[in-house]
Amino acid sequence: MNMRQRWTKQTLIFGGAAAWGLLLISCVMANRTIVAPAKIAGATYVGTKECAQCHSDQTDHFASATHARLALSDPKVGDIGCEACHGPGSQHVKAGGGKGTIINPRKSPETCFQCHLDKRGQFSLPNTHPVLAGKIGCVDCHDVHEGSAVKGSGAALESELETCTKCHTAQKGPFVFEHAAMKEGCTACHNPHGTVNQKMLVARDANLCLRCHLEAPGATPAGVINANAINSGVQNHNARLMQGTCWSAACHEAPHGSNANNHFRY
Ligand code: HEC
Ligand code: HEC
Ligand code: HEC
Ligand code: HEC
Ligand code: HEC
Ligand code: HEC
Ligand code: HEC
Repeated sequence: MNMRQRWTKQTLIFGGAAAWGLLLISCVMANRTIVAPAKIAGATYVGTKECAQCHSDQTDHFASATHARLALSDPKVGDIGCEACHGPGSQHVKAGGGKGTIINPRKSPETCFQCHLDKRGQFSLPNTHPVLAGKIGCVDCHDVHEGSAVKGSGAALESELETCTKCHTAQKGPFVFEHAAMKEGCTACHNPHGTVNQKMLVARDANLCLRCHLEAPGATPAGVINANAINSGVQNHNARLMQGTCWSAACHEAPHGSNANNHFRY
């Protein structure tokens, strides 16, 4: 049984509100450290049932959300799934709702970092989305109130492309010459949380492309990237790779697809 299964089968029972100040639940799940949810001075938990009275938009489909699987529970009020991110709601409810009495993370990642500690590190890498700068939020790519928090994972890969190309229209296509790599999603080549490489690429050099294009082992000389091209004698890739990498100028400059050239050149 791996760590994730262990976590999801477990129901965490948190102590009473007074214990929160001292509480530091820390358990490692799939290499991620999970700590206590949001806090608000003086407020206590009221439970998700209360929120449902006024926020059916968020509560109606919450059962389908990744974060509902956390099954956070308080001995007095039961399920506190909403308050894991928004903080204890007693003051908010007493005031009849309204602004300023409960945490609204908006685009701020701080609420998320409380549990996803590793993400702060990733967003501090040299090439990343401007999340720490407040220009975009985790929620621009992730759903918190409904469905899979990783938009586009598994069967819904389409929606990952949709998420990314909502902002990056130039990569959307359609192109006259499509690169089949795009079917694997943008994350085949980019890590949107950040990397040490330019353009958030998952590898900085030819290795990026070789992960898929190292074909016909033994049939082609070492360092050769495309068996078809080499076998037909079209290009000497070894000489080209000395001058740059696969997507350098005058090579495959259009890795997302091209309207001009079937080898993804401009
Ligand atoms: C009695 C009705 C009521 C209940 C119960 C209630 N809310 Fe609210 N909530 C409101 C109203 C009204 C607003 C203000 C909406 C607006 O101004 O757009 C609001 C606003 C919010 C906001 C945005 C706050 C901001 O500063 O922008 C959040 C987040 C929120 N509620 C979460 C919750 C959660 C979580 C619960 C359960 C713990 C809860 N609410 C329970 C009525 C309620
Ligand atoms: C995993 C963290 C997380 C959980 C769990 C969560 N929320 Fe939220 N919620 C957010 C974030 C982030 C925002 C701000 C971005 C947005 O509006 O989507 C938000 C925004 C809101 C708002 C304000 C919407 C607006 O239009 O300003 C309300 C109301 C709300 N949540 C209620 C709830 C309720 C009720 C639950 C439980 C069913 C819940 N949330 C569970 C993270 C969470
Ligand atoms: C109270 C702790 C907590 C908070 C706060 C929290 N998360 Fe999570 N999150 C978790 C845990 C634990 C899991 C793993 C759930 C599972 O796989 O069953 C998870 C899962 C996820 C996943 C899916 C991971 C996967 O592999 O499927 C994403 C994406 C995610 N969280 C994003 C966010 C974002 C964005 C926020 C802030 C709006 C946030 N989380 C706030 C604890 C938290
Ligand atoms: C630009 C889009 C984007 C932003 C912004 C973003 N993510 Fe993600 N995130 C993704 C994608 C896409 C995946 C799926 C990665 C995969 O399948 O390889 C993912 C996966 C995850 C996962 C599960 C896998 C893992 O890496 O642990 C967690 C947890 C997560 N994100 C949390 C966050 C948090 C927290 C923030 C904000 C601090 C955030 N993400 C901001 C796009 C984004
Ligand atoms: C909400 C809008 C938004 C979404 C959604 C989004 N991005 Fe971005 N992306 C940006 C912004 C803003 C920048 C920073 C641009 C800058 O600094 O000039 C950026 C930068 C990038 C860059 C680096 C560009 C460069 O010139 O260095 C890459 C690569 C990238 N995003 C890939 C992705 C991928 C992959 C996804 C989907 C998982 C995604 N983006 C989703 C807004 C978004
Ligand atoms: C086959 C690998 C691959 C895939 C898949 C891929 N990219 Fe890229 N992407 C690259 C490379 C390589 C660069 C760097 C190009 C350069 O520096 O000239 C890049 C650069 C970018 C840039 C910076 C724009 C620029 O002109 O410098 C953005 C934005 C971007 N990609 C977004 C995306 C999005 C969105 C997706 C999914 C729809 C995606 N990429 C899928 C390889 C890929
Ligand atoms: C996720 C896997 C994947 C990655 C990563 C990838 N490709 Fe591809 N690429 C494919 C597939 C699949 C095809 C279509 C089948 C074929 O022709 O081999 C293709 C086709 C091509 C073609 C056309 C080949 C021909 O002979 O018609 C070129 C050129 C190409 N890729 C260049 C690149 C470059 C440059 C990179 C790195 C920036 C790259 N690819 C990264 C999967 C990938």
